[in-house]
Amino acid sequence: MRLFLRIVAGLVLLGLLVVVALILWPLRLTAPERLTVADDAMAWPAVEKEDYPRLAVVAADCAACHTADDGARFAGGRAFPTPMGTIYSSNITPDDETGIGGYTLDEFRAALVDGVRGDGAHLYPAMPYTNYRKLAERDVAAIYDYMMNQVEPVRNTPPEDEMTFPFNLRFGIRAWKWVSLPRPGFTAASDDPVLARGAYLVEGPEHCGACHSPRNALFVQSGYDASDPDFLSGGELNGWPVPSLRGEDGAPATWSEQALTDYLRTGRNAASGVGGEMTLVVEHSLQELPDSDVAAIVAYLRALAPNGGGSDDGLLVTADGTRAGALRDAQDSTGTIAMLSAADPDEMELGARLYLDNCSGCHFSDGDGSDSVVPRLDGNRIVNADSPVGLIKTILDGAELPSTHLAPYALAMPGFADRLDDAEVAELASFVRRAWSNDAPPVEADAIGQYRE
Ligand code: HEC
Ligand code: HEC
Ligand code: HEC
Repeated sequence: MRLFLRIVAGLVLLGLLVVVALILWPLRLTAPERLTVADDAMAWPAVEKEDYPRLAVVAADCAACHTADDGARFAGGRAFPTPMGTIYSSNITPDDETGIGGYTLDEFRAALVDGVRGDGAHLYPAMPYTNYRKLAERDVAAIYDYMMNQVEPVRNTPPEDEMTFPFNLRFGIRAWKWVSLPRPGFTAASDDPVLARGAYLVEGPEHCGACHSPRNALFVQSGYDASDPDFLSGGELNGWPVPSLRGEDGAPATWSEQALTDYLRTGRNAASGVGGEMTLVVEHSLQELPDSDVAAIVAYLRALAPNGGGSDDGLLVTADGTRAGALRDAQDSTGTIAMLSAADPDEMELGARLYLDNCSGCHFSDGDGSDSVVPRLDGNRIVNADSPVGLIKTILDGAELPSTHLAPYALAMPGFADRLDDAEVAELASFVRRAWSNDAPPVEADAIGQYRE
C-alpha cells in the first residue's frame, strides 16, 4: 500500500512538473531564416508586384475560416465544432482592440507557423499552422502586409471558446505540438519549376493535406509531403468523408486534366460538384488563383497519380474503384433506368418511388444529371463512399454550388429534412446506393437522426 501511494505521489509530482514545464519553459519560435524556399526552383506566378500580397492571402485561404457565415470578411467568429467542444476563429482584421492591429511581423509569423498567439497563448490546431510551417518568409511578410494595410479594421469580438476540461487549458496544446509540428521550411522534391510550385501550394499555403490526409488518434496529420504514402490519401471531417487524391481510383487518376481543372476552378465538372468544406476552398481560394497556379496544382496532383493522370473518358468510377472505360457500364445501369422509366408503382420499392418523386426531376431517371449543372449520381463518389454520411447530409440539408467567376450561377439542391422521415431517408439513400451501376451497402434508419440539425 505504501509503495502504491508513493508511486501515485511520484506520478502526481511528475505530472505537476510537466505542467510547470509546459507553462514556463521558454518558447523557441521559428526564425524567418528557416522559412526558406528555393525561389529559383519555383515558378512564382507572374503577377504585378503590388497584387502579390493579395494573392498570397488568397492562396492561404485565410478568408474561408476567418469569416463567419454572415459576418464581415476576416472578422472571425466562424465556429469549429470538435469532439472536445467548439472553437471560434479570431478576428484578424487590423482592429487594435478586437483584432490583430497590435501584432508585429514576428508575432504574426509565430501565429502562422508556430501556433502561438500574440499574448503567448497556444492556438488550437483548427488554425492550420502545422501546414503553414511550409510557408516561405516572403509569403508570410506579404500576408502580413495585406492584412495590416489593405484590410479595413472591423470591431468584432468572436464568441468565447467552449472547450471541455482539460482541453480548455491551452498550455496542453504545447505538448501536442511536440509530437505533431513538422520541421519548418519547404523543400521541393522535383526540379521541375511547375511541379515544385504545385507541391508548395498543396503542402503549404493551400493546406490541402489538412483535410485530405488521415489523422491518428492524437489528431496528428499523417504525412506532410508526398514522400509519405498517407499524404492526401483521404481523411474525414466531422464525419464527412474527404476523398483520397492519390491511388488509382482517386480523382487525379480518373479525371481528365480539364475535368480536374474545372472542378478546382468552378466547383463542378461532368462527374461531380463540390460539397461540404470543399465549397469554401473553391469559393475563397482556388477560383481566385492565377491560372498558372491552378495549372501547377493540377500538374502536381496528376504527377502523384500512379497512371500519370486520367484521360478524357475517365469520368466514371464504379464503387469498387475499377474504372469504366465508357461513361457508364450500360449493363449495370439499364435495369434501374427501365424500372424508373416504367414508373409502375407495383413494381417499385419505397426508395425508388421516393427517388422518382423527389430527385429525378433534376438528377433524371438515368442518374446522369446534366453536365456541370446537376451532378451525376450513377457512379458518384459521395453516393458510393464507404461512409454514407455525405449522401445522408446532402439529402437532409441540400447542397449549393458556389457561384464562381467562370460559372456564375449558383444552382441549389433543396434540403429534404422536413419532407422525409428517418425511415424514408434511409430507404431513399439505400436505393440510390445500389441504383444504376452503384454498389454500396444500405443505410439503416437509426443512422439518420444524428445528422438532422
Ligand atoms: C482552417 C481554418 C483556418 C485557416 C485556413 C486560417 N485560420 Fe487563422 N485561426 C483559425 C482559428 C480557428 C483560430 C483560433 C484558434 C484558437 O482560438 O486557438 C485562428 C487564429 C488565428 C490567429 C490568432 C489571432 C488571435 O490573436 O487570436 C491569427 C493571427 C490567424 N489565425 C491568422 C490567420 C491567417 C493570416 C491565415 C491565412 C494565412 C489564417 N489564419 C488561416 C482558423 C484558421
Ligand atoms: C477544409 C477541408 C478541405 C481542404 C482544405 C481541401 N479539400 Fe478538397 N475536398 C474536401 C471535401 C470535404 C471534399 C468532398 C467534396 C464532396 O463531398 O462533394 C473534397 C473534394 C475534393 C476533390 C474531388 C475528389 C473526388 O474524388 O470527388 C478534389 C479534386 C479536391 N478536393 C482537391 C483539393 C485540393 C487540390 C485542395 C488544396 C488546394 C483541397 N482539395 C483542399 C475538403 C477539403
Ligand atoms: C432542384 C434540383 C435538385 C433536386 C430536386 C435534387 N438535387 Fe441533388 N443536386 C442538385 C444540384 C444542383 C447538386 C449540386 C450541388 C453541389 O454539389 O453543391 C446536387 C447534388 C447532389 C448530390 C452530391 C453529388 C456530388 O457529387 O456533389 C447528391 C448525392 C444528390 N444531389 C442527391 C439527390 C437526391 C437523393 C435527391 C432526392 C432527394 C436530390 N439530389 C434532389 C440538384 C437537385
